Amino acid sequence: MAHAEVLPVATKRIGKVGDPCVMVIFGFTGDLTRRKLIPALYNLASQKLLSKEFAVIGVGRNPLSDEEARSKVAEDFKKFATGKVDPALWEDFLRRISYVSGDFDDAATYDKLKEALPKIDQEHHSHGNVFFYLATASKYFGDIVERLSKVGLMAEENGHWRRVIIEKPFGHDLDTAKALNQQLLKVISERQIYRIDHYLGKETVQNILAFRFANGIFEPIWNRRYIDHVQISVAETVGVEQRGDYYDGAGALRDMVPNHIMQLISLCAMEPPISFEANAVRDEQAKILHAIQPFSNEDVLSKTVRGQYGEGMMDGSSVPAYRSEEGVPPDSRTETFVAMRLLIDNWRWASVPFYLRTGKRLPGRNTHVVIQFRRAPFMLFRETPVENMMPNQLVLHIQPEEGISLRFAAKVPGPSMQLGEVNMDFEYADYFGQTPNTGYERLLHDCMTGDATLFQRADMVEAGWSIVNPVLDVWKALPPRDFPNYASGTWGPKEADELMERDGRRWRNFDN
Ligand code: BG6
Repeated sequence: MAHAEVLPVATKRIGKVGDPCVMVIFGFTGDLTRRKLIPALYNLASQKLLSKEFAVIGVGRNPLSDEEARSKVAEDFKKFATGKVDPALWEDFLRRISYVSGDFDDAATYDKLKEALPKIDQEHHSHGNVFFYLATASKYFGDIVERLSKVGLMAEENGHWRRVIIEKPFGHDLDTAKALNQQLLKVISERQIYRIDHYLGKETVQNILAFRFANGIFEPIWNRRYIDHVQISVAETVGVEQRGDYYDGAGALRDMVPNHIMQLISLCAMEPPISFEANAVRDEQAKILHAIQPFSNEDVLSKTVRGQYGEGMMDGSSVPAYRSEEGVPPDSRTETFVAMRLLIDNWRWASVPFYLRTGKRLPGRNTHVVIQFRRAPFMLFRETPVENMMPNQLVLHIQPEEGISLRFAAKVPGPSMQLGEVNMDFEYADYFGQTPNTGYERLLHDCMTGDATLFQRADMVEAGWSIVNPVLDVWKALPPRDFPNYASGTWGPKEADELMERDGRRWRNFDN
């Protein structure tokens, strides 16, 4: 088995225990809390990255006592723990949890919280530091922060900090994202706001930066002279599950592109930052988002594709069409698939197309970035069929496989010059093993230590929306006539293949 020598990388935060603090979770009885947040906090505790002076206050509508809230958490944790549980550590964690019940839009809830916080703070010696996690429906985000601020809970005094983590969706389009930013920035400062994008919590996404900037051999060829195009695919096998109500008002474009996919593009395309300080990294990411060529109305028609899944077969079983899913109107025109071709107007990337696609009910769950290099000149291999002359591709596998592979041509043994395609593969698990992870550990820990590098700044969120806004407008003005236009279990509508074929290229599909 392969193994790596892991060098202590000189960044400011590796191994640092989070500051003493109280985490207040709005939406405590919801899915995110039980599936991700609690297991992530426990994992941090077991990696000794959580301060011993830490406590959680859950806020939710259900009237629960502290004891009832703890037993609910314990019950859920049996299902969602990501690894082996140390009973003593878990008991110690559980007793740090308390609960405040109330509606998010009721002033009394914030008065109760204001009363509870100093007591919990004193009991757990958390130094007055507090971060609020808004795991609620997005319509509450602005209002909760205003109300917290009104009762004085966002004020940073006597050397303590106050922060707020805001989940997605951050706005519904450019105008609403701007309005939410303004609403927040009226009462708190940018430095207190941690806009989360869970894609940045994925190790393999963070590894894009290490891969590009910690290795000398890739950066010199990471540009228009050597790269033919880039493909980013975020394929999902699931349908809308129980989220029909939310999803039908959002659609694949809003749900995935301005946030997760823009993060992937900016990390792959950005210039090297001058340091790993939060603003140094985010400045470079923001520059890329601003350099993406805006879509004209014609571009929307020729460079974007939308789709909606019909019924079909997944893993040998038949699955319903999107329009038959719970919470979805039978005549819904919401897209569950999107593909587009973007250009980045800067020196490094001029005329290198970035193709992206994401969709539900595709044949494999697979997120990856394909960097396709320019072809070698053909003349030496005139006798070789062109399909055997595949250009080099570097694939960054984000999930579920986590690794990197490089495809290149090699001679097939034998008397004649025949070419075969071979791969050089690196898999994370082979080298580093697997640590229990929900994807939220790093992000929670970063908030506890005040490192906002992996969180979105106001300008980045707005830049992401600026890119998709013209597409939303044109799509709204011209409702689709052919939905559903792809069967579940296929790689989306044929127009997505045509988008590439028109340029003489094709998607690389990974089924699993
Ligand atoms: C969420 C979207 O942000 O990301 C979901 O709302 C999507 O629709 C999910 O399924 C994908 O995340 P992951 O980590 O499973 O790739």
